[in-house]
Amino acid sequence: MISKIIKRPKSALHRVLMSSGPLARKVYYKFFSSAFSREQAAVGAGIAKYNQDSGSGQDLFLLRRNIHMLEKGLTMRPRRDSFGHDYIERTVRSFAAASSGEGSSLMASTEVHWMYSVLHDYFEATVRSTDPRVQSLRGTFDALSVELGPRLELGCGPHTPSVDVPPVGIEALTGLAERRKSVRWFTDQPVSREIVDRAIRVGAESPTACNRQPYRFEVVDDPASVAKVAAIPMGTNGYRDQIAGLVVVVGDLSAFFDERDRHLIYVDGCLAAMGLVYGFEAQGIGTCCVNWPDIPEKEAAMASLLGLSRHERVIMLLAYGYADATALVPNSAKKDLAAVRRFRKL
Ligand SMILES: Cc1cc2nc3c(=O)[nH]c(=O)nc-3n(C[C@H](O)[C@H](O)[C@H](O)COP(=O)(O)O)c2cc1C
Repeated sequence: MISKIIKRPKSALHRVLMSSGPLARKVYYKFFSSAFSREQAAVGAGIAKYNQDSGSGQDLFLLRRNIHMLEKGLTMRPRRDSFGHDYIERTVRSFAAASSGEGSSLMASTEVHWMYSVLHDYFEATVRSTDPRVQSLRGTFDALSVELGPRLELGCGPHTPSVDVPPVGIEALTGLAERRKSVRWFTDQPVSREIVDRAIRVGAESPTACNRQPYRFEVVDDPASVAKVAAIPMGTNGYRDQIAGLVVVVGDLSAFFDERDRHLIYVDGCLAAMGLVYGFEAQGIGTCCVNWPDIPEKEAAMASLLGLSRHERVIMLLAYGYADATALVPNSAKKDLAAVRRFRKL
């Protein structure tokens, strides 16, 4: 009853308070809207999980970030004889914990070679370091190497950039970008999982802040599952029965120790999603991004359907399939170059 009363005048209340000063807006969000408090709860649950995972061998987000920082240190010009003092201990201990035990998820991943190579290169590069932390951790890493070395590759750390002719030229890339349009009408031809995986490989090569990779793609491609997922967001109305497959981009807030980084799931997740779109397009598969509205009931429905944790948030969805050649796609003309680009001299 109370929620009905609040909901009914919500739009008027929303209009009035949001058009008033900052205090009125504060009142609105404090007493009449839980929109930000749900985000707050998810961010808080993420930080709690990050802290809880720390040192447990499950802290792969911390490891990726720390290994990334060491690798960046290795690429600096000039390279310092000693660096990474504040986090080398935590990094080596996390690597040791994450790589120990039967069935360790780190040892089952290809990332392990990168992490091992970077640590190896780091201890070689800091051989003249007089910092006691670096010295003592070198012994720990050497002992670990005796055990892990035979199973791991070296040479997977920093390397020189590719300066040869790129495999895709600007003409081809521009053609691909101009060819892509949001497709909402698909044939009933199924898209093979091999095609999906190849597209995902492109998306997963995208940059992420500190290489944390705080997202994953949940894919549904059987009609019953697609129907269930497609029914939740509002943006599939009218064409949802046409969709061959759907990717839900899910962000993981347990990648961060501080709320200052809470936007990164959206930034990183969407960069990856764009790679995914082009990965599909390059294989002749049409896509349409689907908005994920921040509505409590929808969030709960998707969380329950996909089994999401409190620290995981949906970022967006992507519908994909073979485009129906007889249907229309909107042209959706783009802004002129001059409207999106300003060269500045400051
Ligand atoms: C984040 C995002 C959310 C979108 N949400 C929807 C949606 O819910 N439903 C839909 O039909 N299209 C959706 N679209 C597709 C846009 O309408 C489309 O990208 C835009 O009109 C430009 O057209 P184009 O993709 O063909 O260039 C979305 C696109 C983006 C990037």
